[in-house]
Amino acid sequence: MKKNKIFIACDTSSISKVNEIIKKTQNSKIKIGYKFGLEFLNSKNGRNFISKLKNKIIFIDLKLNDIPNTMSSTLKSLKDLRINYLTVHISSGLKALKEVKKVCGKIKIVGVTTLTSLDNEDLKSIGHQRSLKDIVKLQAKLASKAKLDAIVCSPHEVKEVKKIFKKEIITPGIRLLGDLIGDQKRIMTPKEAFQNGATSLVIGRSLTKGNVKKNIQKLIRELK
Ligand code: C5P
Repeated sequence: MKKNKIFIACDTSSISKVNEIIKKTQNSKIKIGYKFGLEFLNSKNGRNFISKLKNKIIFIDLKLNDIPNTMSSTLKSLKDLRINYLTVHISSGLKALKEVKKVCGKIKIVGVTTLTSLDNEDLKSIGHQRSLKDIVKLQAKLASKAKLDAIVCSPHEVKEVKKIFKKEIITPGIRLLGDLIGDQKRIMTPKEAFQNGATSLVIGRSLTKGNVKKNIQKLIRELK
């Protein structure tokens, strides 16, 4: 089971909560990485905390979406952190993606396709004419062209994305059996997502809400 990699979304502004998540998710059965997004990185002490983390797989989820120069400069300003993965929106365009790849060094650049909180109707309301699946396929092509290291998509699109993008495929929108869906729209259980071909998963609230240790044990049982 160790080959299953799980990135735990540390969506909080509390250092003690992150410490609790890290402490309670140490185990020998699954490979764990820690994902820090806008909430933690923008909190008063969040960035400093990450700069001191040692021997952890660190996933920085900034979902950069800006002009090429700002994207590559932002990446350079993150270089003091020991980052393993960094997210950028594929919709920032081929040039921006290529610029980021030029300066990323050992950091794996993860292209985010269409957010798992959106569905076809949402896309229509922001002016997209094509279906969600078609847009994600185009995004996968761009990610491939820009030689990104990984891609984020919903578990529902993994099969299609896999045909186009041949590296790591990371899926959020994951819920343990019986958990609340919340604001997500295109979700699956961890087992289903791996069966569909995801190489790693992002899981937040299903693991971090309530008893973290029990949640991890539930995840391990579900993956058997
Ligand atoms: O709590 P939950 O498991 O829904 O959290 C999912 C995490 O994955 C959040 O941190 C969210 O920002 C992130 N994410 C996502 N959909 C994407 C990309 C990232 O939900 N397309």
